[in-house]
Amino acid sequence: MNNTARRIQELTEQLNRYAYEYYTLDAPTVPDAEYDRLFRELEALEAAHPDLRLPESPTQRVGGMPLDGFESVRHTVPMLSLNNAFSPQDENDAFDHAEMLAFDERVRGGLSGVQPEYVIEPKFDGLAISLLYRNGVLVQAATRGDGTTGEDVTQNIKTIANIPLKLRGDNLPSLLEVRGEVLMLKADFAALNEKQAADNQKLFANPRNAAAGSLRQLDSRITAKRRLHFFAYGIAHIEGGARLEEHIQELAYLSELGFSLPHGQFGVFPNIAEILAFYEHMSQKRPELPYEIDGMVVKVNSLAQQETLGFVSRAPRWAIAHKFPAEEALTVVEAIDVQVGRTGAVTPVARLQPVFVGGVTVTNATLHNEGETQRKDVRVGDTVVVRRAGDVIPEVVRVVFERRPMQTIAETVSDGLQKDLFAEPVRPSENVQNEQIPLYPQYRLPEHCPICASEIEREESEAVARCSGGMLCQAQRAQGLIHFASRKAMDIDGLGQRQIEQLVAQNLVQHFADLYRLDVPTLQLMKENADKEQAADAGETVSDGLKTTAKKQSPTKWAENILAGIEASKQPELARFLFALGIRHVGERTAKSLAQAFGTLENVRRAPEPVLACLPDIGTVVARSITHFFAQPEQQAMIDELLAVGVVPQNQTISLPLSQYVTPAKWLSRLPGFKISETKAAALWDLAGKNIDSLLNDNALNADWQQWRNQPENAALLLSMRQFLEQMPSENKASVSDGLNQAVAGKTFVLTGTLPTLKRDEAQAMIEAAGGKVSGSVSKKTDYVVAGEAAGSKLEKANALGVAVLDEAQLMALLNP
Ligand code: IVH
Repeated sequence: MNNTARRIQELTEQLNRYAYEYYTLDAPTVPDAEYDRLFRELEALEAAHPDLRLPESPTQRVGGMPLDGFESVRHTVPMLSLNNAFSPQDENDAFDHAEMLAFDERVRGGLSGVQPEYVIEPKFDGLAISLLYRNGVLVQAATRGDGTTGEDVTQNIKTIANIPLKLRGDNLPSLLEVRGEVLMLKADFAALNEKQAADNQKLFANPRNAAAGSLRQLDSRITAKRRLHFFAYGIAHIEGGARLEEHIQELAYLSELGFSLPHGQFGVFPNIAEILAFYEHMSQKRPELPYEIDGMVVKVNSLAQQETLGFVSRAPRWAIAHKFPAEEALTVVEAIDVQVGRTGAVTPVARLQPVFVGGVTVTNATLHNEGETQRKDVRVGDTVVVRRAGDVIPEVVRVVFERRPMQTIAETVSDGLQKDLFAEPVRPSENVQNEQIPLYPQYRLPEHCPICASEIEREESEAVARCSGGMLCQAQRAQGLIHFASRKAMDIDGLGQRQIEQLVAQNLVQHFADLYRLDVPTLQLMKENADKEQAADAGETVSDGLKTTAKKQSPTKWAENILAGIEASKQPELARFLFALGIRHVGERTAKSLAQAFGTLENVRRAPEPVLACLPDIGTVVARSITHFFAQPEQQAMIDELLAVGVVPQNQTISLPLSQYVTPAKWLSRLPGFKISETKAAALWDLAGKNIDSLLNDNALNADWQQWRNQPENAALLLSMRQFLEQMPSENKASVSDGLNQAVAGKTFVLTGTLPTLKRDEAQAMIEAAGGKVSGSVSKKTDYVVAGEAAGSKLEKANALGVAVLDEAQLMALLNP
């Protein structure tokens, strides 16, 4: 042997060992780069000396020239099938092991009453393959075909990474025929379908189909790109090598020779009872397995006993398949409803004709979200594949489109069912009337929550739609209250998830403020009801339930403790209060930023969207969510109620005046629906003479701007901006840090005449916001008269009574000391 041949052999052995360690043992010993380097070296040597290439060379695994067709292969030992043990077809068939016990009986009968050992192993849901090794080298691989004659898929099989091209060890059999199953792992299947979808290619229905499609490629280079796996489950024929007397020894030997076995998923047991226990164990483990199995195979362990038992009509008497209930079944979608979760997530749910699948009767299956429903194109009336694996929520896998109910356009016109269609122009074809179209339209989420009728919202970046009702929505109340009371929010001691869920379930609390109206009798009632329910659930008597409670703690004391916790939460920091409200997108951090920037709840409540959007770490989405929240009358009422029951969020000192963040260039560039850079916004501001009134009225400003500001809601937004900016909270203001502006709070103002910039109701709002009162007539009790142009008798009276008279500028100075 020359040096090149030696090197080629060395590399081939080395690479095959690395592949075995990697794919079969799942324990690589060298980095991928090292494998790649050696692989390239071998490739180069083989290219230069094609005659020196060994049949087991790993370079074969990449596939070869496409075939015209597969050759036929006659199996020397036929590939038989297995008899199935009974498996229930619907819930009325008792799920017992009667047929397995009958199998055991038959076997013992066939062995003259001897109790055999059994091996139990997974029934792989893939394709049966027979592998032929001559002197340890893989020479032929064939499909099952009709059991007698199959197809030669050697080229394709060689691309499967965990199939040894050469057997491991010394004293190899001169001839070995291995039987096993080729399959695709669930994860590889998912990835393949994802890629198929991305490439606009047909999706595979399940891993089995994907494995079959991959193996039946005439071009083995395609097979090489699909990740297939092989598990060996038996030896059909052996000459030389080890002497084997039991099936379990066969499995152990196959493992030694380099084959993958489903370790941990097979075993040998002394009787059928233990076999059935292992079957139950595997049926639990099934959903977590990396591949699909459709049952377990039970085999008599002793090969001699197998021979005694023999075959009946193409199936062995010594083996049986004990199937699991199917995880997939066909049924019909009767309706598509939506479900609102505790967090407001809105999920479309298919209501199904009841179907027995995965061991239970299923009537609902999740469709996940609108996008997913449309992608799968699930419609009412469709026949669908539903899947339930283990304890997972049943889901609709796909539609059987051939069975979709259709009707002609003519029929549609007469009954008007498919209304959507007529939004599109009807093609002017002669046959159009007879064209078949689906009876039901494509699915769309409803616009309003089925529970509280609030709008359903979906942000562009998110697949999930949500009910915007928050605490207004029954489905979300418990969650909202749990959040409200939680440690980082209002931090109500003693009021945990369980208590809140009970209070909501018993309808004793609906809104936040209701918590502050709780009393001892109500809490006791709640506890009694909860105990009764628990006792009923546990099958105990009611009095037992109460006794247990009484032993632990006096119910009065318990209730008083909770009330004390509630009472103690009445003066939260502003940030905690804002966080507690559960405004979408307002987490702890955002709540803190808001509190620091605005100082008071009132300031946050009235802050317009563009102002909020100027704050650090608040973007337009969050700003919109906040203003949307505070704009809803129900939410306003909810906050007012909280204030009315005595909750007083503590004002916070403003760390940095708002004017530091809210510059005209910034807020103008954050107006909803008007896209403009900060630089251009600054120019616009200059052009408008740095004043909002011109922004509102100046007809010399650019056309886009005029168009935007002419929308009533945009004009209103500018007005609220003006009002907000005129009394923008800042750090120096007593009104903010102390909560009250002493010069204004409690004082009575009278407004008269026309003020230069402020409208009368604006001035009034500002005075009231600072704690002052506005009255219509001047008296001795009047503290200030604010006079503008053309002030009349009120000004005279003020002068006569010696009441202080202010102009607009002086009023503003008073309001913003
Ligand atoms: S033994 C003579 N063992 O099931 C016994 N078959 O109906 C022949 N299968 O397509 C089969 N897992 O490919 C056996 N652990 C297992 C199996 C298994 C899956 C498949 C086999 C064949 C079918 C037999």
